[in-house]
Amino acid sequence: MVGIDIEKINRFEHWTDEGYERIFTKNEINYVKSFENYLERFCGFFCVKEAFVKAIDDDSLIYKEIEVLHSETGKPYIKRNEYIDSILKEKHKSRIEISISHCKDYAVAIVVID
Ligand SMILES: CC(C)(COP(=O)(O)OP(=O)(O)OC[C@H]1O[C@@H](n2cnc3c(N)ncnc32)[C@H](O)[C@@H]1OP(=O)(O)O)[C@@H](O)C(=O)NCCC(=O)NCCS
Repeated sequence: MVGIDIEKINRFEHWTDEGYERIFTKNEINYVKSFENYLERFCGFFCVKEAFVKAIDDDSLIYKEIEVLHSETGKPYIKRNEYIDSILKEKHKSRIEISISHCKDYAVAIVVID
């Protein structure tokens, strides 16, 4: 199963802290805010959440439950939790792979579930 999403960075320009906190976890916000070009990174994480919904074909998902973390090398991954595991189990899937890219104007993410 595969999902992809692309978003304009400027979509996030006028979001309030409350807006970010509704969609992103504390870990995600701390990671993103450690970079100067942090809007690109919020946008990339948002794309992961949308791409995950497309891949899993379930629009009842809570975005904050889909948390993007990074390995020591910087490779992004979705943190496993009970909620994610229950959805994967229902779909008879077990593995999630993601990739993110961003530039000044756009961010894109792809999610593969198998
Ligand atoms: C990882 C790398 C390919 C990112 O490419 P980029 O064009 O700078 O940036 P992009 O916007 O396309 O990608 C950034 C995203 O890559 C992802 N990423 C970072 N390290 C990664 C890794 N080791 N594996 C997979 N994805 C990685 C992250 O998700 C990052 O976004 P995020 O921090 O917001 O989550 C690049 O920075 C890198 O480290 N290359 C190492 C190889 C290299 O430098 N070679 C030089 C040859 S001259």
